Amino acid sequence: MTRPIRIAPSILSADFTRLGDEIRAIDAGGADYIHVDVMDGHFVPNITIGPMIVSAIRPLTKKIIDVHLMIAPADPYLSAFARAGADSITVHVEAGPHLHRSLQAIRAEGKRAGVAINPATPVSAIEHVIGDVDLVLIMSVNPGFGGQKFIAESYTKLRQARTLIGNRPIDLQVDGGVSADNAKALADAGADLYVAGTSVFSGNDPATYASRIAAIRNAATKINA
Ligand code: DX5
Ligand code: ZN
Repeated sequence: MTRPIRIAPSILSADFTRLGDEIRAIDAGGADYIHVDVMDGHFVPNITIGPMIVSAIRPLTKKIIDVHLMIAPADPYLSAFARAGADSITVHVEAGPHLHRSLQAIRAEGKRAGVAINPATPVSAIEHVIGDVDLVLIMSVNPGFGGQKFIAESYTKLRQARTLIGNRPIDLQVDGGVSADNAKALADAGADLYVAGTSVFSGNDPATYASRIAAIRNAATKINA
């Protein structure tokens, strides 16, 4: 059974000169999760933020802080992100040889464990850890940057992931090129947790965030005619 649709604005597209206000605005605007993209310039060709920023934003919101680690290795930093206040920590299958150990380490910190797969990685790569995760993330762009075009093959992967998840209480998250325009098709493919960077933050006008978050949610929950 699919869980309720939830929206996770990605602060990668926030205005960093006023990050606190941006977080408060998406929180007030109905965000369910706050998605934090961590990049190391090694696993992905971009560098973003670390545990210090997670710790700085933690007091600003009671929403789930959803940390997406695009770093390799990830294991040496898991407890730093947990201590900084992350509620959910996602690691990539491609980031290291010991995925099962990474997932166990996240749960040992008392956090929700997520696993992400890149566009070229088959869903079968997570088959044997599906009992050890709280979130499955299907990357629908190559990780590294906001504002990229959605890769259509992701629909097939979401369907496969939905079948693999079955009735388990696992979030099926999609990340990259998500907007109100494809939200319904994503829901039909089984996604229930939508990361949205550009489609929430473009223009960086806090007055627009609530309606944009609502537009994605409403499109995703539209009943088939
Ligand atoms: C990409 C990140 C995404 C990104 C999505 O590497 O993982 O979370 O912020 O941005 P949009 O929604 O603009 O594609
Ligand atoms: Zn992300």
